[in-house]
Amino acid sequence: MGLTLASFSKISMSGIKTIVLDNGSGYMKAGLANDAAPAVIEPTLIGSTKHQSVLFAPQQKSVFVGNEAYEKKGDLFLRYPIEHGHIRNWEDMETIWKEIFSQKLFCDPSKSRILVSSHPLCERANKEKLTERLFEEFKIPNLYVANSAILCIYATGTTSGLVVESGEGVTYSAPVHNGYYITEAVSRMNVAGKEITNYFARLLSESGHQFTSASDLETVKQIKENQCFFRSPTHQNPRDKSKFILPDGSSIQLGNERHEAAEVLYNPLLVGQECDGLGGMVASSLLSSPLDTRQNLALNIVVNGGTSRAEGFEERLKSELETKLSKTHPQLSFTIKVSENREIGAWIGGSVLASSMQDDAWMSKHEYQEYGAHYVHQKCL
Ligand SMILES: Nc1ncnc2c1ncn2[C@@H]1O[C@H](COP(=O)(O)OP(=O)(O)OP(=O)(O)O)[C@@H](O)[C@H]1O
Ligand SMILES: [Mg+2]
Repeated sequence: MGLTLASFSKISMSGIKTIVLDNGSGYMKAGLANDAAPAVIEPTLIGSTKHQSVLFAPQQKSVFVGNEAYEKKGDLFLRYPIEHGHIRNWEDMETIWKEIFSQKLFCDPSKSRILVSSHPLCERANKEKLTERLFEEFKIPNLYVANSAILCIYATGTTSGLVVESGEGVTYSAPVHNGYYITEAVSRMNVAGKEITNYFARLLSESGHQFTSASDLETVKQIKENQCFFRSPTHQNPRDKSKFILPDGSSIQLGNERHEAAEVLYNPLLVGQECDGLGGMVASSLLSSPLDTRQNLALNIVVNGGTSRAEGFEERLKSELETKLSKTHPQLSFTIKVSENREIGAWIGGSVLASSMQDDAWMSKHEYQEYGAHYVHQKCL
């Protein structure tokens, strides 16, 4: 089978491919620029065998990544190398990247440009380390680190809107106006899907169901995705689904935990975090944006991230904004927009951007060697 025209366009004349990576705290999205969707969506998970000599023959692997690690979760020590959007275990992260590049994307990184998405307000040192590892360890020729809020806007085919993204480790609200994001109006908290899962596990333990191991928490995450919802005046009880069958065949009855767990996003104090919560964050992003952009932003609230899949997410956000702002800003009206692709919005925007960037917009290996890793902050705005 030869190259199709579409695949040929993804490889430049010099044989360089362009990889797009959205390194999520929960899920890795990876693929080639110009594609409509990532070829890889797998847990950003790594697992090492607990009992090598018993379960696995010596010649077999003892480290598994992504879906494979998830499938064998009961037999492995599990680790997520990204916490709240920051890479904390570089060795594990590199193991995951190596597997993705060679086994899933069939790319040689030393012949591939890489565009990586990064949440707003990420640690500068983490971005520099990422730059260093990709140039040094993977010997890539070019890199671009793009702001995920801008990428989510590009994915909608527009250049302005207020991006609200809530994934596994990070929730942020970031206004983007004519392709630029308004830095001083960005709010972010390290409270997202993982905190909802952990709080849900705590509520379940109070009603007599213990979920303690890392593998058990994966089951709690599954129950959460299936059962939890956001309550609001317009969205009370989406469906009568209060029974969940556990992997061992037993069943669990669920009550108020189904909506109480999601409250973490609006009341982070429930998990000990003294921050505003999503309603306050989005309201403050709007009020910190220039006056003449506010109404347009409020009518273009673009929701992304897997946590926004929970039923009632949009209704709750809208009612929180109306409650918070109706007295002081009665003229503002809100439209919350969601797309079917909400988990991969940043990746899609990355695919669009990477396929249209001029050669000199990328940070080159030469620039890295000449100016160092911190040059990434100047080059990638
Ligand atoms: N139906 C659902 N209800 C509630 N949560 C959901 C649902 N579907 C997915 N999620 C949650 O979405 C999160 C994953 O979303 P996403 O892939 O956007 O995050 P990520 O990119 O890995 O993390 P981050 O961007 O925060 O670093 C997980 O916490 C997952 O449990
Ligand atoms: Mg994400």
